[in-house]
Amino acid sequence: MITVIANLKGGSGKSTVAFNLAVWLEKNGRSVVGYDLDPQCTFSDLAMLRKEMDYKPELTIHSVRAVLKDQLLSHADQEVLVDVGAANMAAMKEALTAADRILIPVPPSQADVWATQRFLHIIGPDIDAMKVNGNQQTMAFVNRADTNKSIRETHETEAALRMLRGIDVVLPHRLRLRTGFRRSLSEGLTVFEMWPRSKAAQEFRTLAGTLYPDVVGNS
Ligand SMILES: Nc1ncnc2c1ncn2[C@@H]1O[C@H](COP(=O)(O)OP(=O)(O)O)[C@@H](O)[C@H]1O
Ligand SMILES: [Mg+2]
Repeated sequence: MITVIANLKGGSGKSTVAFNLAVWLEKNGRSVVGYDLDPQCTFSDLAMLRKEMDYKPELTIHSVRAVLKDQLLSHADQEVLVDVGAANMAAMKEALTAADRILIPVPPSQADVWATQRFLHIIGPDIDAMKVNGNQQTMAFVNRADTNKSIRETHETEAALRMLRGIDVVLPHRLRLRTGFRRSLSEGLTVFEMWPRSKAAQEFRTLAGTLYPDVVGNS
């Protein structure tokens, strides 16, 4: 399955989610190939850091400026994860036409809802006309949700996302703002490798298990 993790805004958690998903899938017996189409190269830097540190599983992440959809479609028996940023719109659009699903992490704020709406508006007509998989799904979820449940932004953001044309599913499994994501990333590790029992790890596993229901997630 080809999952493209995309959003217009930087800092929404695309690379964090792509990286944690890649390691989680590998640890649970899937073969993963990643594509890093963002000039920031976070996804591929993380793979390189793991290699230097000799952390297993090692990740195969291609850092490229352009990719053809046929290349993404050639990994039939692998999980494909693509990290794309707005800095490379041409590559983003090409990847989105190949995608089985588009995963959009959205921080809980009105500005991020607007940015997501704009993103859907920019990609919508082109992707609809060119997408390879007619059942392509666009999924959004809130990342960096406030840990204080009384703060309303997360619910309001989810409600606003549900109203957006172009979003098929708003996943109910949010990731909260947890320093574990940032700290583990800087070591080249996932949150569930560094702190397997943390809330961050639990929340991540729930999200990953929803995205890949046929993977038996022990890691
Ligand atoms: N749920 C979260 N809680 C805490 N920090 C997060 C969370 N998600 C992402 N981050 C941190 O925010 C920063 C930006 O995330 P990143 O994945 O690089 O965003 P993007 O790829 O969309 O630009 C990173 O330092 C990352 O570790
Ligand atoms: Mg990134």
